[in-house]
Amino acid sequence: MPGERFTIDGGGTALVLEVGDDGRLHQMALGHPATMAEPALPTVIYPLAYPTFGEEILREPALRVTHADGAVGTRLVFHAAAQEPHGHGQVHRIELIDRVAPLTVTLCFRTWPRHDLIEQWVEVVNGADAPITLHQAASASPALPGTDPHLTHWGGGWAHEWTETTERITPGTKTVASAGGVRSSLHREPIVLFAGEGRATETEGSVLAATVAWGGDTRFDAEMGMHRACRLIAGAQHRGAERTLDPGERHVTPPAVLAWSDQGIGPITRALHPWVRKHVVRDGDRPRAVVFNNWETMFFDLATEPVNAVIDGAQRVGAELFLMDDGWFGSTHPRDNDLQGLGDWMVDAQKFPDGLSGVIDHALAAGLRFGLWVEPEMVNPLSELYRDHPDWVIAEPGRERREERQQLILDLCRTDVQAFVIEVIDRALAMHPGISYLKWDANRDVFEAGSTALAADRQAHLPMDRVRATQEVMAEVARRHPEVELMACASGGGRSDLGTLRWFHEIWTSDNTDPVDRVRIQWGASHLLPSMVLGAHVTRWGEKPVAFGCAVAMSARFGFDIDPRAMTDDELEVATAAAASSKRIRPLVQFGDLHRLVSPVDGPRAALAYLDPAPVDASDPEVPCAVVFAYRLEDDGAGTPDGQQGIAVPGLVGDRRYLVEDATPGSAEAGSVFQRLGSELAATGVPWPADAAPSARVWVISPEA
Ligand code: DGJ
Repeated sequence: MPGERFTIDGGGTALVLEVGDDGRLHQMALGHPATMAEPALPTVIYPLAYPTFGEEILREPALRVTHADGAVGTRLVFHAAAQEPHGHGQVHRIELIDRVAPLTVTLCFRTWPRHDLIEQWVEVVNGADAPITLHQAASASPALPGTDPHLTHWGGGWAHEWTETTERITPGTKTVASAGGVRSSLHREPIVLFAGEGRATETEGSVLAATVAWGGDTRFDAEMGMHRACRLIAGAQHRGAERTLDPGERHVTPPAVLAWSDQGIGPITRALHPWVRKHVVRDGDRPRAVVFNNWETMFFDLATEPVNAVIDGAQRVGAELFLMDDGWFGSTHPRDNDLQGLGDWMVDAQKFPDGLSGVIDHALAAGLRFGLWVEPEMVNPLSELYRDHPDWVIAEPGRERREERQQLILDLCRTDVQAFVIEVIDRALAMHPGISYLKWDANRDVFEAGSTALAADRQAHLPMDRVRATQEVMAEVARRHPEVELMACASGGGRSDLGTLRWFHEIWTSDNTDPVDRVRIQWGASHLLPSMVLGAHVTRWGEKPVAFGCAVAMSARFGFDIDPRAMTDDELEVATAAAASSKRIRPLVQFGDLHRLVSPVDGPRAALAYLDPAPVDASDPEVPCAVVFAYRLEDDGAGTPDGQQGIAVPGLVGDRRYLVEDATPGSAEAGSVFQRLGSELAATGVPWPADAAPSARVWVISPEA
């Protein structure tokens, strides 16, 4: 009904929609309810809530359909609305219909007022008695206020994940989209930040964060149209993924998550992280273990004795879980390198004549949990699996099957392949009940996007159907093995999205573990993901001092992948002390509120802090309530950023005294303590590292008794 208004109240993020006299649904306001502009002008002047091809011909559409009668335009009007609680907020469903074709488009919103965010997705139903083509259907298309809009986005490819770009939006459309379908976030991360009035900082500026919770390719179109009006269209990538909707068929988009802040980027992170811990990642209330991985340490060169020697080293430094990586399987094509064996998930009897029990029992006896690497969606052509099932892979008929890392992708659109993958994991876990953790890897992208499970005229469904089928398999594994923790890896951080994370416990952030690069990668990743899910290991990559590597890994989910047999006594001592302190500060790093303090993006230094989210003055005396990580990444002379002598620590109580302990791994001053008032820490702060780059300082702050 004209004039009907809907307030989608996600706490600090609110969206106001209204039906105009023209019957169309308009977006009247977006922002923090306390500060957003009250709509005062006639409704029809405001932008459309969900623009379609054919309606606003000069602008990018969120929806494009070819109707059963061949018409290519869609013009939506309001039809009905419903609202119901979901336990943490409301679900709103606003139904729009085409003026002529029997097409229903429902805008769906789930509000999370306690987390200051909104999820939005769209459902499209074909009410015609003939098929229609859905060329694109975005999850959300908010119009955005601002006179000098800037977009921040991330990407970079293997070993360069989360490379940040911030750029001014100018007339036209800036598209940030991923491709490849499997390792989508390796290339482009599925989150953008839109700041309306110039670059936002951590503490200043109005910002909208938008992420799409989708385990495949995503697409963000930031458009500046006439009169500098801006809009963000966010959803799954539609290029090459047109769908035929049969009569009565419903298409549901993945959800976009929208979070707004008037006070810079920081509050969005501190809203998003607790939500991801509580409502997205599996067992987000459970502390993550200190992992000792052996990929960089041993590669494919595995056998019971050397693996057990590494397990002994892992125990020596205080790791809690040993993760045996690639190379443990294969028979006629043993996995001695990445040329062969993928798909043949039997233990390599040459390397492990007594099966895996020799290493699993050894780890358990040493007090470590045991984890195992799998890449169940893939196959090397040089394998028994491919010999027996050459039709099980994604391929196009009569076309070359191009390989990447000498492998092909199993076609999870096929139910027999789904059953095989689930069975691979069932069998590995049934044979080895000591396994309580799996690293689920995926190391190539889709090239010839064809499936024997799809009809000839439905081949373009593969990009979405393959992702959905993969997620269903992941969900089934999670259901069958609720106690087994899962790490999502796709050549590093290729599956860093909230759609996949639902079925996992953590993510392998990047294969790049050079700690200087890692500070920047983890900094970027923190815009979407809480530290408890960001695997960070101390390795030899980049040949930086072990102490510095520890100081960087300690700021996320701490672990190692370094040969303990080749570590010096000093390095072992530093690593052991770092593992112990990582456990001490784990409640803060894994569950605290993140404050990004000094950005490494274009600078030589970085600083970040985790604070106890409970009111700081109520916390127990002498239990750490904050930890600050400070890094010098490149030499920049004696000066400090902005001429500041120290790193200001926010969020403490001004008139309270705190003990500040130096917890820098490997430092001669480690353990030394000084006292400061909260007001002093907020003003002059804690010192930067004094040593030449790369160097670090870790400060643990506790209220004085
Ligand atoms: C790619 C992953 O990113 C690495 O960490 C490692 O597990 C290898 N695959 C193993 O082949």
